[in-house]
Amino acid sequence: MVAVIAIDGPSGSGKSTVARLVAEKQGWFYLNTGAMYRAVGLYLADNDIPCDNTEVTDKVLESVDVNFGADGRILLNSEDVSDRILTPEAARHASDYSKLSAVRQLMTALQRKIGLSRPSVVEGRDIGTVVFPDADHKFFIVASPEERARRRYIQLKEKDPKTTITIEGILREQKERDQQDAERSLAPLKQAKDAILVETTEKTIDEVVEEILARL
Ligand code: DC
Repeated sequence: MVAVIAIDGPSGSGKSTVARLVAEKQGWFYLNTGAMYRAVGLYLADNDIPCDNTEVTDKVLESVDVNFGADGRILLNSEDVSDRILTPEAARHASDYSKLSAVRQLMTALQRKIGLSRPSVVEGRDIGTVVFPDADHKFFIVASPEERARRRYIQLKEKDPKTTITIEGILREQKERDQQDAERSLAPLKQAKDAILVETTEKTIDEVVEEILARL
């Protein structure tokens, strides 16, 4: 198997930034599977597809193509949706639609295909448990809910200084999403038995990256 580093964890744990930097240091491909679920979620929500009608979803998914551009931008049916997927609504849609079996099957197959085409750092919720259970290295990244909400707040404020979003609002939304991701029956968010737990509440991004690199 081509080399894979699996990095999982709840929303706002810092795993995207950490995974991207580890990939950069290794000279490997960075695969953000959350971005893929966000892109599909966007498509299904844009087309008013109810997330409880599996028959309709299966049919609609036949016309969905999710891919990455050369510069890591995410493409939904060739349209660059890299910015559109960053909103809290896109996160909510991703979490809602990622419960569906057809969505997970499509995404998992695509993630395996992309991840196995070159050495990759793959980041998500079910990478070490379902997508790449034989990954060479597995990490599960966590931080306190308050710290995760604080990090998300700073990120969203940087993107849009006029945003009216509050830390309390993020905390509420984060709790709901984590619960939904961890309690779903298919590929729930959970630490793989052989994954290394990395607690990041009191650590800087660089410290976490160093900790992971030291374990490879
Ligand atoms: O990592 P993220 O916040 O961008 O992910 C958005 C949602 O996508 C997350 O709440 C659940 C879903 N997701 C998933 O089910 N499996 C993955 N491997 C990655 C994300």
